[in-house]
Amino acid sequence: MRAYTPLTITDAVLEQMASTPDPRMKEVMEAAVRHLHAFAREVNLTPAEWIKGIEFMTKVGQACTPARQEFILLSDTLGLSALVNIMHDKTKLEEATSASLLGPFFRENTPTFASGAQIAKKTEGVEVVLFGRVTNAHGAPLPNAQVTVWQTAADGRYDIQNGIEEIDCRGIFRTDADGNYLIQTVRPLGYFIPLDGPVGQMVMSQKRHGMRPAHIHFLISAPNYRELVTALYLAGDAHLEDDVVFGASGDLVAEVKDGDPACPIKGLPSIHFDFNLARESEDDKRAGRVGADPAAVTAGNGQTTKPYGAPPAEIADAAGPKKSGIFSGLFRGR
Ligand code: BEZ
Ligand code: FE
Repeated sequence: MRAYTPLTITDAVLEQMASTPDPRMKEVMEAAVRHLHAFAREVNLTPAEWIKGIEFMTKVGQACTPARQEFILLSDTLGLSALVNIMHDKTKLEEATSASLLGPFFRENTPTFASGAQIAKKTEGVEVVLFGRVTNAHGAPLPNAQVTVWQTAADGRYDIQNGIEEIDCRGIFRTDADGNYLIQTVRPLGYFIPLDGPVGQMVMSQKRHGMRPAHIHFLISAPNYRELVTALYLAGDAHLEDDVVFGASGDLVAEVKDGDPACPIKGLPSIHFDFNLARESEDDKRAGRVGADPAAVTAGNGQTTKPYGAPPAEIADAAGPKKSGIFSGLFRGR
């Protein structure tokens, strides 16, 4: 009978898993075991640390509900979501608008609006118009493309953080015959990712600030084009360079302008951004998204969907000037 050593145990596991029929599953699991074992050897993982890791992952799973995806949040804060997104983005058939994170607050249950409608029905804030065109990679308009947007309310929280029945600041629109979209919203704020769960504990124990720069999410689709999951980041935000989930990128930074003559709705600040979609490949049809509606991942684990908690006061206070930002956007000029 053989006795395993810290080195031979890895090959023993790979040998046993060699019978895996699905070649891609075999490849992924073999690499996972090799890297996991290498990690344990590199840090000389102790039994106490091993059980601490198990307890942490258990808490992450227990925090998941139809309104909350703590595992996606973990992946986001470790940069894994951004890495998978960036790698996927590089496989596009053509140059087009770059992708950004879907995040844990996307939900399928989103109302449909007529062009130009206001999506922020229940929050105060500074009204902003979003407008531009959806085109193919060569600038030809894509009529009737579906444009889904979602963002925080003026208090820096997503609707779902206040309860699964809450719906606000999200909407589905269509482009017109010339590929134009037109949306009204309120100016989003930079915000803390959910810090009231195990991932928040991890982030705070690492002394990270825990904030995302102000942004608006977009999910844009048109038949025969690769679905675009992206976001626009507001110019001037203090956390564009150190987003806690590594989603912000320079080409997605947008200015809020006053009095832009091109804006179809006069008298309001606006963001003008044109999106380009790449042609869809056969692989794109099976690629999936880096993210999901939490309800689609967690088919209900018996937990209630209680509202998310606020960040601890000392963390919110440490964010300093952002605090004035959070309150400065509370009044909408209507
Ligand atoms: C978001 O943009 O909504 C988000 C992304 C990753 C983690 C938390 C929030
Ligand atoms: Fe977001």
